[in-house]
Amino acid sequence: MARRLVIASQKGGVGKTTVALNLAVALAERGRRTLLVDLDPQGAIGLSLAKGDTELVGLAELVTGQASPPEAVLTTRLSGLRLLPRGRLDATDVATFEEEIARPGALDAALEATEAGSDVVVVDTPSGLGRVTSAAMVVADFVLMAFQTEALALRSVGQAFRVIEHVQTTANARLQLVGILPTLVERERPGTHTVLSEMWNGFPDTLETVVPRTEAFARASALGIPVGFLGASAGESEARRFHLLADELEARMNRLQGMERVHEAQPARQLL
Ligand SMILES: Nc1ncnc2c1ncn2[C@@H]1O[C@H](COP(=O)(O)OP(=O)(O)OP(=O)(O)O)[C@@H](O)[C@H]1O
Ligand SMILES: [Mg+2]
Repeated sequence: MARRLVIASQKGGVGKTTVALNLAVALAERGRRTLLVDLDPQGAIGLSLAKGDTELVGLAELVTGQASPPEAVLTTRLSGLRLLPRGRLDATDVATFEEEIARPGALDAALEATEAGSDVVVVDTPSGLGRVTSAAMVVADFVLMAFQTEALALRSVGQAFRVIEHVQTTANARLQLVGILPTLVERERPGTHTVLSEMWNGFPDTLETVVPRTEAFARASALGIPVGFLGASAGESEARRFHLLADELEARMNRLQGMERVHEAQPARQLL
């Protein structure tokens, strides 16, 4: 069965979508059959990954019965990575989209109809822990919380824990926090080390792998492409870091599910 991993954050703009896209690519490159799902009504993840045009049918049509699962899911240039886009949505449809996604059973059914043959489903969510993100947690196995590495972020960790606990006790006992991911890390900035140490010491769920703030991530996300697709050697170290993140997360998921570490496939860099 596919493992469903939701990427969430309280604050907007902390690099969630960047994490979801690059993590999904790294997992696929490591041989995991991966489905990347865009749940953000404001976002349009990975359009450039898709082989087709930019007006993609997706989740919005799937949950309203206007598209079949094969119509909603796209193959990408990377073998092993499929995409369930958000779907066509104009600004006025956002509330309806949110309602459809939050309708009990709707998201579960949409994922069940599309995740067959996948090892892992990576779900990008809108910022905040609102109803779309909660709906995703209700049907997920794991949640990864992204926090921008700044002193203020520490204050909101407790609140995130409470939301996760609420979902666990009321709707989904299977949900587990797989990790807290420090993002937009600026090593040179005064205070960064203090915040990171406080995260590592105060919250054992904090991952060892962190996502640095770099020019390559900014450029790749402006282009809507994974960081490893920038060309030449740009983004190589960033892409490698996501392979480390994929490994760390898989090890934790295995541990949380009481499984032995599975055999690691060779990275498939040659596919790029
Ligand atoms: N590691 C990084 N280094 C540099 N810039 C980054 C990094 N991660 C994200 N960014 C930039 O920060 C902005 C927000 O990133 P992203 O869209 O991934 O965040 P988000 O949490 O998904 O935002 P939202 O809450 O709006 O969905 C983007 O402009 C992106 O280019
Ligand atoms: Mg986003």
